[in-house]
Amino acid sequence: MPLVTVTRRLTFNAAHRVHNPALSDEENTRLFGKCNNPNWHGHNYVLEVSLTGEPDPITGYVIDLGEVKRIVESEFVSQVDHRNLNLEVPFLQGTNPTSENIILACWRLLEPALRPGRLSRLRLWETENNYVEYDGR
Ligand code: NI
Repeated sequence: MPLVTVTRRLTFNAAHRVHNPALSDEENTRLFGKCNNPNWHGHNYVLEVSLTGEPDPITGYVIDLGEVKRIVESEFVSQVDHRNLNLEVPFLQGTNPTSENIILACWRLLEPALRPGRLSRLRLWETENNYVEYDGR
């Protein structure tokens, strides 16, 4: 059976500070540079949500991407958009909000919420030049 991957792109913006409280201020500055600014900085994030499956014989869809959009907005984007990721997002409390840690938290929320659709990959763009990917492994 042929498998097809479909992707929905969503955007949000948020503030954060990349900081590990277990390390000294000097070590944080050395490791994270400008991203450790104590007064925060912001990003226009782009999230790509991919699901893989066989096209339905009736609809021809793997999954309705409008439904994907609704689920991702309600389960994830609504919790992070226009927020401070260090202070205001319960599922990121106690984590250093790097893109790597954000995408792992995002997967934990979305993978069950999208079932029976099969989430196969998340890609999170933090800047035009930097993105991270996670496929559940
Ligand atoms: Ni940053």
